[in-house]
Amino acid sequence: MRYDKNHQYFSFEGMVDMEFKIGVIKGDGIGPEIVTEAMKVLDKTGEVYGHTFSYTQLLMGGASIDAYGVPLTEETLRQARESDAVLMGSIGGDAKTSPWYRLEPSKRPEAGLLALRKGLNLFANLRPAVLYDELKGACPLKEEIAARGFDMMIMRELTGGLYFGKRSTEEVDGVLTAKDELTYNENEIRRIAKRAFDIAMKRGRKVTSVDKANVLDSSRLWRKIVEEVAADYPEVTLEHMLVDNCAMQLVKDPAQFDVILTENMFGDILSDEASMVTGSIGMLASASLNETKFGLYEPSGGSAPDIAGKGIANPIATILSAAMMLRYSFDLDREADAVEQAVEAALRDGYRTADIMSEGRIQIGTAEMGDRICGYIR
Ligand code: IPM
Ligand code: MG
Repeated sequence: MRYDKNHQYFSFEGMVDMEFKIGVIKGDGIGPEIVTEAMKVLDKTGEVYGHTFSYTQLLMGGASIDAYGVPLTEETLRQARESDAVLMGSIGGDAKTSPWYRLEPSKRPEAGLLALRKGLNLFANLRPAVLYDELKGACPLKEEIAARGFDMMIMRELTGGLYFGKRSTEEVDGVLTAKDELTYNENEIRRIAKRAFDIAMKRGRKVTSVDKANVLDSSRLWRKIVEEVAADYPEVTLEHMLVDNCAMQLVKDPAQFDVILTENMFGDILSDEASMVTGSIGMLASASLNETKFGLYEPSGGSAPDIAGKGIANPIATILSAAMMLRYSFDLDREADAVEQAVEAALRDGYRTADIMSEGRIQIGTAEMGDRICGYIR
């Protein structure tokens, strides 16, 4: 947010009435439906608490390919940079049937997302994985494990490592050979580690740093730098865990985790696993942050082209992502709490979209879930 004259004025009650500029990437598949509900909830929150949210629609991913032939234009990147934050649905289509996947890899929807992350320097990806009391029945783990519950934050480095290293496919001595480079420098490791420790200070004060230091040089450097950062946070307990063990521990004893800190590729894999054990990927938010207050907020799940346009997708992950936006980019903690409590109230009163439906509950569609949640905003 910018505290200049154009963005700040006083309402009649004398409270500060803020205007926030949000870039909106509705995206592909179920993206437009779920983002519409999150905007509804933001508007309701603004009404109750006296803030104005203004939206600029941006195209990225498949929708941008259809309009401009590329998944991300310079102009969209510029507009995203000029926003206070970006709210995003999900991008991409069915890789088997969509024409987007007949394009070369650098022109496909996912390439737009990677270029956006890099272009906005969004190095810190926060993916909370929470087992909601109301949804414990959906957890695929053994009952005694689910009973303990869990609430972890996966901090994934998002602009380095294998995703952004040099890659090539060429013939070497007549043999087709592909190469992907994994590079991390100490500065990239230090800044994400600091973020992880800062967040741990506000949570359970434990960081589990995940690497493959028994094999990889990049992981050995990772471990060394994380230990240096940890020295500045004596109240936080640090432990190191190898990634293969972490994959196992996530299903064996997820309650042991508070903040999981890891590099890009490991974080991609572990965050999908963590979301699956909650049993409800339609509930999981995420935030991608840079050094400033700016952030990109999106649900953890994909664009689900198979159910797009049917009005049955779960908008809660996107609504909770909007709550993260209120908290991390706009410093509106009270308002973020209100949205999170409204989601819990809707669940408590039995409202469910199809993906989280269980016996005796009330099944509703995407738009009705948005409306119900708005109704609980106080
Ligand atoms: C994610 C996704 C992306 C990633 C894909 C779509 C490129 O899986 O956000 O986790 O691998 O980062
Ligand atoms: Mg992923």
